Amino acid sequence: MPNPTLPDGDAVTLPRARSHTPTTPTTTPAARAWWRDAVIYQIYVRSFRDTDGDGVGDLAGVREKLHHVRQLGADGVWLNPFYVSPQHDHGYDIADHCAVDPVYGDLAEFDRLVTDCRLLGLKLVLDVVPNHCSSDHPWFQKALANGPGSPERARFHFADGRGEGGQLPPNNWRAMFGGPAWSRVVEPDGRPGQWYLHLFTPEQPDFNWRHPDVAAHFEEVLRFWLDRGVDGFRIDVAAGLFKHPELPDSPDPDVDERTRDSVNPLAWNQPEVHGIWRRWRALCEEYTARDGRQRLLVGEASVPTPAEQALYVRPDELHQAFFFHLLHAPWDLAHFHRVIDDAVRDITATGSTVTWVLNNHDQVRTVSRFAGEGPATGPARARAAALLMLALPGAAYIYQGEEFGLPEVLDLPDELITDPIFHRTGSRTGIRDGCRIPLPWSGTEAPFGFSPSESPAAPWLPQPDSFAAHTAERQRADAGSVYHLYRTALQLRRELPQLGEGTLRWLETPPGVLTFVRGEGLVCAVNFGDTPAPAPVAGPPLLASGPCDGGVLPPATAAWWINSTSTDRSS
Ligand code: NOJ
Repeated sequence: MPNPTLPDGDAVTLPRARSHTPTTPTTTPAARAWWRDAVIYQIYVRSFRDTDGDGVGDLAGVREKLHHVRQLGADGVWLNPFYVSPQHDHGYDIADHCAVDPVYGDLAEFDRLVTDCRLLGLKLVLDVVPNHCSSDHPWFQKALANGPGSPERARFHFADGRGEGGQLPPNNWRAMFGGPAWSRVVEPDGRPGQWYLHLFTPEQPDFNWRHPDVAAHFEEVLRFWLDRGVDGFRIDVAAGLFKHPELPDSPDPDVDERTRDSVNPLAWNQPEVHGIWRRWRALCEEYTARDGRQRLLVGEASVPTPAEQALYVRPDELHQAFFFHLLHAPWDLAHFHRVIDDAVRDITATGSTVTWVLNNHDQVRTVSRFAGEGPATGPARARAAALLMLALPGAAYIYQGEEFGLPEVLDLPDELITDPIFHRTGSRTGIRDGCRIPLPWSGTEAPFGFSPSESPAAPWLPQPDSFAAHTAERQRADAGSVYHLYRTALQLRRELPQLGEGTLRWLETPPGVLTFVRGEGLVCAVNFGDTPAPAPVAGPPLLASGPCDGGVLPPATAAWWINSTSTDRSS
């Protein structure tokens, strides 16, 4: 196939396809599946590229910049929700699961995107949000209109309140985004009535997954998008869905829900959820049996330990689940060592692969998260962490803008903050607007090519002037940029059989340095310390996250070497 010439004139060298030779004795078809060591680029559609000048990204913008993802070297894209939504939680409050919100485009544009992904050899993964919907969803509107005891209410968790006149919520659960997990409705006769459950905002009522209509509805939703050609789904709140059948009080209701994984054990991680993932897996396999194409189910299963997460990726359940422990890891060698070790042990034992994540649309960007002493520390650590993640066995996700080294924007004025967490808690703790600022593509001033230059509307969140140093244009022109680091690392991942799926063996190294070997002699070392350390391999590295000529590994630096005397024979 000839290399396509892309819109910005760059010819793309299409990387060789990976062989996917299994490195374990497993011979099931899943062992050869593309997702096992894929690198997926996460597109927050709202902030990726705006083509119609309304200040909000759109599907046409995704299509326009898809070549950027291809050139970077990712294997596919995951799109955050673009379905019909009143946008109380920027698309995680869905009013119609099978339609495109007009702000993002329409189904015809989506179909063109599917075609473009195919032409560029990119997998297309969509977000599916099964735990809750929008309060504008027709089912919820009918439930409100039809009153207590109606069949429509049974699809959600409606219950009478406690206390005199039912003025207290049915139990003491708290919502993830602040406040009680229950809101009271006004009944059709105008009187205060029942309460409904919402683990997030009141605009996101939770479905009752014990009602058969709910499972049937979501199977239709999956089929709708699979029939349009998608390659898989990222599943929102995959440890949610079912609640304890009696909805009892929580013994620990006052804990800050946002600071813990697997929050209220009565509302999360109920055993019945595994039955749903088995049904969804079977549905994906039905499609694979028809056309031979593997589909992916990757879950946002926030549970406390890798061992619990492993239950979600048993061979007949989800293919993968995001491993979030690196998202919460401080810049600390022992911490990284432990979470990597646990993940590789517990997840690989299931036959799945670890799905590494350093950043996403809910987390403080790595440059700012790892910022320690002095302005240079965060960027250097973020670069080193990226190289570390891309050397680990399994799959990896990269959130848009990380490849430009974007920092978190921390100084948005209160009146511009859109995150419901801020509006429900009155606190900036955990708010997510700062990692969702529209991407800078080109130029020296806002909107930095995010919107057309003559746009009637400004970007939905303001871009700081400092984004000028992080535009795609600037990054591409600078051989030492974060962009080129990612691009080279991804190219090596495709070319070197040691990278991607496989085993890992730790090597002894000086204090402060984490070192491991992958397959036949690919050594990765990261200096977590504050002082230079002797490099574990003589000579210049194949790739380093910062200046590193050999002999010495500077602080906050990661590097890869090929060394024939270091081999992981543990496989
Ligand atoms: C997790 C998503 O990543 C987040 O953005 C969203 O607000 C919640 N789930 C609720 O759907």
